[in-house]
Amino acid sequence: MTAAPEVWSIRRVLEWASQDFRERGLPSPRLEAELLLAHVLGVDRIRLILDAERPLAAAELGRMRALIQRRRAREPVAYLLGRREFWGLDFEVDGRVLVPRPDTEALVEEALERTRDRSLHGRLLDLCTGSGCVAIAFAHERPTWAITGADASADALEVARRNALRLGAVWGVRWLRGDLWEALGAGERFELVTANPPYVPSAEVDQLEPDVRAWEPRLALDGGSDGLVLVRRIAAGARERLTPGGTLALELHHDQAERAEGLLRGAGFVEVRRRRDFAGHERVVSGRRA
Ligand SMILES: C[S@@+](CC[C@H](N)C(=O)[O-])C[C@H]1O[C@@H](n2cnc3c(N)ncnc32)[C@H](O)[C@@H]1O
Repeated sequence: MTAAPEVWSIRRVLEWASQDFRERGLPSPRLEAELLLAHVLGVDRIRLILDAERPLAAAELGRMRALIQRRRAREPVAYLLGRREFWGLDFEVDGRVLVPRPDTEALVEEALERTRDRSLHGRLLDLCTGSGCVAIAFAHERPTWAITGADASADALEVARRNALRLGAVWGVRWLRGDLWEALGAGERFELVTANPPYVPSAEVDQLEPDVRAWEPRLALDGGSDGLVLVRRIAAGARERLTPGGTLALELHHDQAERAEGLLRGAGFVEVRRRRDFAGHERVVSGRRA
């Protein structure tokens, strides 16, 4: 007599994967297991509960096993799913771009608040645009603005371009490649410049958690010796690229906010202020060109 084949139901796979992730010290074992299995099955997480006893087909089990292996190697869940929500929009992400963080929504909020008086017409330059999340979120809120996203990485711009197409931010949006300001043509000016530049001090990049240091692009993380190398270059170059009264808004590590505020003031910016993220950290610094 041959033994009956093992049945791997949704419930059993979830229990097994969560336990495996827990033992490996992953931060949200059950949630991650659910997200991966829902992705494999092409369903919402609620369906996993409703169909808990449904057995997985061999191919589904194979795909889930492959994702579990990748997660064990600490590849970020967002890369495994190929998606991350930001500003209520579904962004495509992969290893070519930083995974958009909820903290960065504070940068979008600050940009919107600072431009409330010119909601109909303006030009945004989003430096260090990565996946395009800041530029595209802003474009959704201010559809009549002209939007430019710029990045040193051609790979990142490819992702940003795809996101813009998928999320319907097409008209009046362009993507430029270059080292900060060098991406721009002579004489171009903007009412608003945003940036979430790399700001981790070089010596600290290798101490970041493995999901970040081993998988996210180093170009997106490494902010030079004190983490503020790009911030300094952005602050120094912004006056020439902003229209009078134009706004510069930057995201930083919260322990850099005070120094960044000093940099903006030193570069001649007025009405300089800091903004907290959802966790209460001073994450964004902004100022106006006098
Ligand atoms: C921290 S990520 C931010 C990505 C995106 N804006 C976000 O908030 O998720 C920084 C980005 O800056 C880009 N970058 C790094 N050095 C740069 C430089 N010198 N000039 C332009 N972009 C640069 C990286 O390629 C990366 O996409």
